[in-house]
Amino acid sequence: MSELKILTRNVSRPNPAHIDSYLVNEGYVALPRALNEMTPEEVIDEVKIARLRGRGGAGFPAGMKWDFASRDRRKPKYIICNADEGEPGTFKDRVLIENDPHAILEGMALAGYAAGAEKGFIYIRGEYPQGARILERAIAEATSRSFLGDNILNSGFNFSVTVHRGAGAYVCGEETALIESLEGKRGQSRIRPPFPVNVGYSNLPTVVNNVETLASVPPIILRGGAWYASIGTPECPGTKLYSVSGHVARPGVYELPMGVTLRELIFDNAGGMREGRTFKAAFPGGASSACLDESQLDVKLDFNSLAVAGSMLGSGAVIVLDDTADMVKATHVLIKFFEHESCGKCTPCREGLFWVRRILDQILEGSASEQDLDLLLEICEGIRSTSFCGLGEASVSCVESTIKKFRGEYLAYLRNSGSGEAETEAAS
Ligand SMILES: Cc1cc2nc3c(=O)[nH]c(=O)nc-3n(C[C@H](O)[C@H](O)[C@H](O)COP(=O)(O)O)c2cc1C
Ligand code: SF4
Repeated sequence: MSELKILTRNVSRPNPAHIDSYLVNEGYVALPRALNEMTPEEVIDEVKIARLRGRGGAGFPAGMKWDFASRDRRKPKYIICNADEGEPGTFKDRVLIENDPHAILEGMALAGYAAGAEKGFIYIRGEYPQGARILERAIAEATSRSFLGDNILNSGFNFSVTVHRGAGAYVCGEETALIESLEGKRGQSRIRPPFPVNVGYSNLPTVVNNVETLASVPPIILRGGAWYASIGTPECPGTKLYSVSGHVARPGVYELPMGVTLRELIFDNAGGMREGRTFKAAFPGGASSACLDESQLDVKLDFNSLAVAGSMLGSGAVIVLDDTADMVKATHVLIKFFEHESCGKCTPCREGLFWVRRILDQILEGSASEQDLDLLLEICEGIRSTSFCGLGEASVSCVESTIKKFRGEYLAYLRNSGSGEAETEAAS
């Protein structure tokens, strides 16, 4: 499938992050149009007609979220752009942050106008220092041209944005942990409900949206929700930025209509598998998603189709593995990440991931038995069903799915316990 460049329309322009590059390609046309010609309710309606779904992972309808915030009478309200981008395999927000920061700022200002918020924050991961600098420069540019700040373009609407850098915790991408961190507290998830849209930053109404979600808004206001809804699939309209990594010939970020199949993404866009190798598996939604095998190459990469296939789209981070991959070792790497990133607030995730990693250690060392596989699945079920937040819930998908689809590789390690042959056989 060929790329459809809506979000990435400015990426290949000279000096794309500069405000003048943005302005020559219909930049900051949607914002004055909304301020002069539309009520906040009409902006929300347009986003609802577009059926824009959040690109941070959960796919929640953006228009509905804005509507909830706008109906809450308490003030002040806040817009938070989630630029934490911590999911292993995800690097698509970075493309927008570094190449089209004004699209993000214009989307935030439109969200602020729609929801009745005058203050925005961009929470950006600490590992993106260049992105933070680019955003700060873009905020200064936009403020100097009256696209941000007080009385924007003489409309009476005020909206300012502050960049806040994270300190390297994956859990701080989870919206409530992000808000705790932004408030200067330890980054740990809050219980939900209440949801941030009503009880968010400083316990006030707060819209948290992903970078890609917000950058999708200016084109929607410019071209109309119906135009946007005609792209992609009926349940998941629009384009999606897929970050493809792993054993493909051309890893990278590809913008395609929602619903492209895994096969099309890998073989038409990412150049196929590395030379001489064949496809083995893919994690379609980053480390948190269940893997797909060869029989699922024709699954569509959208929220609904992947849920039916037993996995999830998440942020669209497609990690591809070829026939050289050892699925047990790959799972071990992912679990070590989650164990390290567990914030420690709840027992199933904090203790459970330790034990999951320990059993995987033993399997790889050749000192586990087949009963340990059952024990592993039992612990995973406990973590998934009783963890406090999404980190714990989704962390074990890699274990459960690889045991289901590649059980033979686990059994090969168990059969060869202590013989030192496990590695060779499992990888073959
Ligand atoms: C462990 C964890 C990490 C997350 N990391 C991110 C992230 O880096 N960026 C993001 O936009 N959403 C992330 N999310 C999802 C957010 O909690 C939230 O749903 C999202 O920012 C809402 O924006 P959206 O509706 O535009 O998708 C994460 C969720 C969990 C459970
Ligand atoms: S599930 Fe993990 S990351 Fe989430 S609150 Fe519990 S310990 Fe923290």
